[in-house]
Amino acid sequence: MIKLTDVEKSFGNNKVLRGVNLEINDGETLVIIGRSGCGKSVMLKTIIGLLEPDAGEIIVEGKIINLLSKRELYEVRKKFGFLFQGAALFDSMTVGENVGLALTENTNMSKADIKNIVAEKLEIVGLPGIEEMNPADLSGGMKKRVSLARSLSTNPSYILYDEPTTGLDPVMSDQIDDLIKELAEKLKVTSVVVTHDIFSVYDVAQRVAMMHEGKIYFDGSPKDLVESNDELIVGFLNRTRKENDFN
Ligand SMILES: Nc1ncnc2c1ncn2[C@@H]1O[C@H](COP(=O)(O)OP(=O)(O)O)[C@@H](O)[C@H]1O
Ligand SMILES: [Mg+2]
Repeated sequence: MIKLTDVEKSFGNNKVLRGVNLEINDGETLVIIGRSGCGKSVMLKTIIGLLEPDAGEIIVEGKIINLLSKRELYEVRKKFGFLFQGAALFDSMTVGENVGLALTENTNMSKADIKNIVAEKLEIVGLPGIEEMNPADLSGGMKKRVSLARSLSTNPSYILYDEPTTGLDPVMSDQIDDLIKELAEKLKVTSVVVTHDIFSVYDVAQRVAMMHEGKIYFDGSPKDLVESNDELIVGFLNRTRKENDFN
């Protein structure tokens, strides 16, 4: 389980996280929404220790990760797969080399074993057999899938998705949403999906958390979110729906 308690993070005078309290339960798919710039990515980065909070506590499987040594943090981070915004594939490597990168660099696994894992992960994301292709020859949706296969290479227990459908057309977005759901079911991973795509909320969320002014403003079911009469939530949903109409 992941638990954030009173997490604060500022950059200079910019108070981004102002006391975030959030529990992420094992096996669930939690979607995080909120205005652009409200701190969603910053929060994800604090969860895996890429950013250190100024105050508060982040607990992953019983360990307070903001107190760990580099080595201990590295061990915890192995449990995470992340699909970051703009996480690019290396164009100088084949798809297969990209997917196997973490294993080649950080383990002593044999080439044959890595090859098998790469094949398995590409299969899981629906792109079997494309090891020898070059990233430059892939569509945007395929690149996302390959990035996802890469983040699955270490068999993570948690997958953090940061705006996984941004920049994709509606059809590709749906495919990525389906894949997120499929992975959650097949691999029993805990999934945290940051999105501004309101359709993704309806599609994949078991629970939704909305961030506002550095805190979790809403935390509940997708149904409760859409049925809410709260002015701020209604306004947010209306704006987001409009933005999505233009896509
Ligand atoms: N490494 C950083 N250094 C300084 N400011 C940052 C950094 N990362 C994020 N910020 C600021 O924190 C705020 C929240 O950013 P972010 O979490 O990326 O928003 P979003 O909710 O759109 O993902 C923004 O004002 C952004 O400029
Ligand atoms: Mg972001």
